[in-house]
Amino acid sequence: MNLLITGGCGFLGSNLVHYLASAHPEYYITVYDILTYAGSRSNIRGLENRKAIAFIEGDICDPVRLAGALDIGVDMVINLAAETHVDRSIMSPVDFVRTNVYGVQVMLEQCRERSIAFLQISTDEVYGPAPEDIRFSEHEPLLPTSPYAASKASADLLILAAHRTYRQDVMILRPVNNLGPYQYPEKIIPLFCDRLSRGLPVPVYGDGCQIRTWLHVDDFSRAVELAIEGFVSGECFNVGSKWEITNIDLTKRIVKLVGQSEKLIRFVDDRPGHDRRYAVDFSRFMNRFGWLPGRDFDRAIEKTVKWYLENRKWLDTKRTKDYGEFIDRQYGKLK
Ligand code: NAD
Ligand code: TYD
Repeated sequence: MNLLITGGCGFLGSNLVHYLASAHPEYYITVYDILTYAGSRSNIRGLENRKAIAFIEGDICDPVRLAGALDIGVDMVINLAAETHVDRSIMSPVDFVRTNVYGVQVMLEQCRERSIAFLQISTDEVYGPAPEDIRFSEHEPLLPTSPYAASKASADLLILAAHRTYRQDVMILRPVNNLGPYQYPEKIIPLFCDRLSRGLPVPVYGDGCQIRTWLHVDDFSRAVELAIEGFVSGECFNVGSKWEITNIDLTKRIVKLVGQSEKLIRFVDDRPGHDRRYAVDFSRFMNRFGWLPGRDFDRAIEKTVKWYLENRKWLDTKRTKDYGEFIDRQYGKLK
């Protein structure tokens, strides 16, 4: 199998590359990534020396560069290249439309010309907020609320249109929130580990009772491995777990694992348009692929927090000028 993994230097992408390199040394993997603030070659350090892993710095919106990367006998593209932070999408939606919508269309066309299968990593956020006791199945309408989620939903629609119109080989996975190593510290878990371990307060948006479903990134990687092996063209699958947690419960767990005081928890203004709950029914994927998330949440959060505490240097390198400006704008209210 010859794979092109776009966004392979980001959080999910780098974990996937580590996972596949270990589980499938026979795969040939090219990582294609533009290296935004969220992506770093150091996330796949150690793997690039392998003969079966290559790296190309490139933009998914650039058809010429992409064509060069595809013309080496690629069988499948797995797309994890995206702008991913909801708060940034509220401040600057156009970047999200460029990469998450236009970039996907460019990739679709390049793949179609070469009959290359296209596996898109979408998100549970495309369905919008789930009412209490409801878990959305794949047949629910897409009702995204944030610019980020709207850009991801737009990409899903373009991908499904390509299948219907051209019979293009495409498949979509819609995972819930992942936790694990190498996540840029603007997302709640690495951000709170970073700040708490430096004795700084952490901002919980609104009342903190919003619910997210959590999945360990190794379970996500296993789901992608199954999708590569059992590719079902034209289909979407939710990839979830039973771990629905409120943000305040999650925050208290992180505070405890870092060994800090709950006095560092600050309730701040809510994120505009903040969705109360995301929840998906993932029985279709479970039944079709015999997949179940293996890691329980207690162990997963413990291991994840430990990784960030033991990899302080990695966190320190992420605090760049851009990060400083973003955090100042975002969390100035904490000072
Ligand atoms: P991330 O922000 O950590 O990484 C994104 C990667 O894409 C970075 O390496 C970045 O350099 C690269 N990239 C961005 N724009 C690019 C471009 N124009 N061309 C090439 N590369 C580009 O994101 P992530 O958390 O790893 O998410 C990966 C995918 O999974 C995204 O599509 C996201 O919507 C989806 N997803 C993530 C989660 C999660 O919990 N992290 C949950 C559900 C879905
Ligand atoms: P985030 O990690 O940004 O992921 P997403 O918005 O894609 O789910 O946020 C997870 C939840 O945590 C979300 O409900 C917003 C909340 N949150 C805070 O309360 N404070 C923060 O500083 C951040 C970054 C997020």
